[in-house]
Amino acid sequence: MSTMGPEYITGIAVLDEQHKQLFLLTSQAQTLLKDQNMLYKFDELKEILEGIRAYTLSHFVDEEAYMSNAGYSGLDEHLELHQKFLENLTHIDEEASRVSLGTQDSILRELLNYLTKWLHQHILHADKEMVREIEAAK
Ligand SMILES: [Fe+2]
Ligand SMILES: [Fe+2]
Repeated sequence: MSTMGPEYITGIAVLDEQHKQLFLLTSQAQTLLKDQNMLYKFDELKEILEGIRAYTLSHFVDEEAYMSNAGYSGLDEHLELHQKFLENLTHIDEEASRVSLGTQDSILRELLNYLTKWLHQHILHADKEMVREIEAAK
């Protein structure tokens, strides 16, 4: 999970680089989940969540500019998918704000499952299809 496989490459270097970073951030959550020696994971969980939000926000800005400049036909739909992601992340943030020793690993697991699924579905399908359509029209 820590590195991005070749099937995720869209061909747009800036976006691919940013996607790689999202995989790295996801692997941080995985490392933290697996860590058996750390008793309280609250600060690290918060840090990871903040990192993911900040990085995703800036990635969305760049990706949305690329789509918008190209006059992409599926722009609105894609914007909705990005919005939905941020909403789901907010939901996990809320859970993390009430984190306890008994719930920290289940919140981390939820975050990890969600991010893994998102990276897989979103990049592999929505992002790649979007780039394919834009580049084919050039
Ligand atoms: Fe996207
Ligand atoms: Fe993306």
